[in-house]
Amino acid sequence: MSGQDDYVAELPRPDDANRDGIREEDNDIPGWWWWTWFATILFSAFYIPYYALTGWSQERMYAEQVEAAQAIAASAPAPTANPFRGDAAAIAEGQQVFATICAACHKPDASGLVGPSLVDPYWKYGDSDADLFQTVAKGRPAGMPAWESQLGTEKIWKALAFMETLPKSDQPGIGAPTAPGAASAPAAAPAPGS
Ligand code: HEC
Repeated sequence: MSGQDDYVAELPRPDDANRDGIREEDNDIPGWWWWTWFATILFSAFYIPYYALTGWSQERMYAEQVEAAQAIAASAPAPTANPFRGDAAAIAEGQQVFATICAACHKPDASGLVGPSLVDPYWKYGDSDADLFQTVAKGRPAGMPAWESQLGTEKIWKALAFMETLPKSDQPGIGAPTAPGAASAPAAAPAPGS
């Protein structure tokens, strides 16, 4: 044994139990290891049939959870009412949004410019909270951009909460088909002389 200590680079000697000063033992496998092994076999005896026969799987659990989440999402009240109506702080924030974004096309008083009047009685796409939200979030074809990704839900509601506070006009304004001299609605413009 002591003679081997002189070796620096040893050649493989598979039959020698003592190499590099490390002694290889051949002990019995410990009891806990056997029990763990038997336990996994026992577990698999139940688990494999259960997995294979009942159709239970990660995919199915995932699908079930997605279905449940979708059911919750579908039953959750869609934003049908402006949560910021009358909330002074939110309206002040909405005013900022309106002034920086909406006013460019609708004028600061919302009486209309490129975009239609938002204070007249005429609403092309409806003036329920849900309609207004849809208009601003998703946009409308004749030049109203979608603001959802830039503003997010809250700021849209706040801008709308502010919009409501603007003084209303009872006359059809810009964009209304019946507006007097409405340039943007030729079909409905009154014929000259009528
Ligand atoms: C780039 C110009 C532009 C900007 C900016 C803009 N709008 Fe509009 N908006 C329009 C145009 C044009 C329409 C008409 C769309 C149509 O008739 O299809 C419109 C339509 C609307 C309508 C529907 C009116 C109706 O009669 O149904 C609402 C409400 C509205 N805008 C609100 C807003 C709000 C709130 C903002 C700010 C977040 C905003 N708009 C920003 C151009 C704009």
